[in-house]
Amino acid sequence: MSDTPENSPADVSSTARCWALIPCAGSGSRAGLDHPKQYQSLAGRPMVLHTLAAFAAVRRISGILVVVAAGDSFFSIHKGDYRVADCGGATRAESVANGLNILREQGASGSDWVLVHDAARCLITPAQINLLMDACAADPVGGLLALPLADTLKCVLDARVMATLQRHDKWLAQTPQMFRIDLLRRALGHAGPEMTDESSAVESIGLQPLVVNGSAQNFKVTYPEDFALAQALLQGRSAGGDDSDNRWTTVGEGR
Ligand code: C5P
Repeated sequence: MSDTPENSPADVSSTARCWALIPCAGSGSRAGLDHPKQYQSLAGRPMVLHTLAAFAAVRRISGILVVVAAGDSFFSIHKGDYRVADCGGATRAESVANGLNILREQGASGSDWVLVHDAARCLITPAQINLLMDACAADPVGGLLALPLADTLKCVLDARVMATLQRHDKWLAQTPQMFRIDLLRRALGHAGPEMTDESSAVESIGLQPLVVNGSAQNFKVTYPEDFALAQALLQGRSAGGDDSDNRWTTVGEGR
């Protein structure tokens, strides 16, 4: 199927389905663990299962595809209401591109939406996913969750500040990022394997994704000190400290 002419709101079909694609094939080398960070146990279960539970709680998502590295056996014992493809690539962009091909092969339409979300952003909530979906549903391009930069931004070389950048127009890109499947395939093909998010690829073909306010809690667990913070937040939610979380304690019931 050819791409929709993406600059016209009239192209937005109300029958388009939404899929979630979770790239989960990274080694997480910055985390300092001897296994991929997305499988580290946090608040009683592996990080990626928290991520998947949030998506499973969003009923208007038609299906979830997890992309893992070849030979990864994690999901052979952690089964749930999601499909797993061992088509991970050398970079995140390659893993996403391979996952998009699988979605198409398995019946998704090129004009369906896909929400791409890092396995390692385990603090995402159904409310934030729904916020992005509501904002993008009628958008001709699609968009992403992001956070306005709070701190002052420095360019640094060899531990010396080279410049201070204006921050008023700077945002930190998060995931999910939501685009039409074939638009994103074309964008990733154009941008190449080094893009670190989907928006960069879509920008590279001349489009301007919509930015939707995310949450500071939706950080990507990356460095060793991030695990304790993520665990404390997850434990606070399951103890009832955040009642918006109580709806998705198990993965994938009733889709
Ligand atoms: O490495 P980074 O933290 O940027 O990875 C973001 C997400 O992309 C993680 O969920 C990771 O598992 C995934 N990834 C992937 N394939 C790669 C590299 C990263 O699916 N080759």
